[in-house]
Amino acid sequence: MAKYEPATQPTMYFIGVTTGSSSIMKVFPEWAKALGLKDAVMKGIDIAIHADPQEYVDVVKFIKEDPLSLGALVTTHKLDLYNAAHQYFEYLDPYAQMFHELSSISKRGDKLCGHAKDPISSGLALEHFVPEHYWKEHPQAGVLIMGAGGSAISMCSYLMREDFAGNYPAKIVIANRSKPRLKEIEEINAKLDPFGIEFAYYLTPEPGQNDEVLHKMPEGSLVINATGLGKDRPGSPLTDNAKFPKNALVWEINYRGDLRFMHQAEEQQEERNLTIEDGWTYFIHGWTQVISEVFDTPIAGERLQKLDEIAAGFNQNK
Ligand SMILES: NC(=O)c1ccc[n+]([C@@H]2O[C@H](COP(=O)([O-])OP(=O)(O)OC[C@H]3O[C@@H](n4cnc5c(N)ncnc54)[C@H](OP(=O)(O)O)[C@@H]3O)[C@@H](O)[C@H]2O)c1
Repeated sequence: MAKYEPATQPTMYFIGVTTGSSSIMKVFPEWAKALGLKDAVMKGIDIAIHADPQEYVDVVKFIKEDPLSLGALVTTHKLDLYNAAHQYFEYLDPYAQMFHELSSISKRGDKLCGHAKDPISSGLALEHFVPEHYWKEHPQAGVLIMGAGGSAISMCSYLMREDFAGNYPAKIVIANRSKPRLKEIEEINAKLDPFGIEFAYYLTPEPGQNDEVLHKMPEGSLVINATGLGKDRPGSPLTDNAKFPKNALVWEINYRGDLRFMHQAEEQQEERNLTIEDGWTYFIHGWTQVISEVFDTPIAGERLQKLDEIAAGFNQNK
């Protein structure tokens, strides 16, 4: 029997590890209605972490050859899928080629297309709460990203965009628990950095070491928790002794979990005049960017607003 059954209606896949428990399965049918995507459905495909490369080849070839399978959003397997199956794509966007990862699979005519959307969706999420000319107007302010994983790499590439010349943070500081990730992001940033933005990298395996890095950040800096602590595992990368810079922008990139980091910021919000943002908008942009590609339909402005409201109705944290 074939591993994947041909789709009988327009189908988008969610390729992950435990896709059934994601709230997108409940949200998607309502989004499809709002977008006027007739008969469209979302199906989960669960693949074990770091699966055999053939698994990624099989799923990509299936989507490529099955007419009503229109595309997919890929989590967790972004790098492995790219490495195993990028040769089956007729188009790969510049970010996919640069970072060797794929979060979006779609079709245009007889072309299979792959995109890495995270630099775009993390950028849109940042634009939601960081004012347009913020860095120019706050020349002393820097960015501290705790965690050097995929989302940190995406954010750095966004902050370094060439068209932002004249509006860059004074410094981008990255703190990570282990050395290999820190080395990897340093190498990627060194290749991208178009106008000599200053970077600093700190190895912070022990509690309290992120606090020390935070205490060096100037007033008005952007402080980001991209470690997954507070969602993937309980806790925060900071201890309760940490003090945020005055007037800082604080971003917890998750929106569910114990969100300890965000609560630490809330405890100092008034005294230090902090602007605090969670990961909800990031989540909405992450999904809508890919759905827009798969169904070849623009999602912005009022349409985006509508989808945000629908999804919020399914999220008990909202
Ligand atoms: N809202 C959204 O839509 C959205 C979108 C993207 C990501 N996220 C969430 O954001 C989180 C990060 O995503 P990701 O893909 O970047 O994850 P990732 O690749 O697993 O990266 C997390 C990084 O944080 C580091 N880390 C963990 N604890 C630390 C600590 N105490 N101090 C310093 N560094 C620490 C890890 O270090 P080592 O592994 O090197 O030790 C790792 O490099 C996840 O929880 C993910 O679910 C949310």
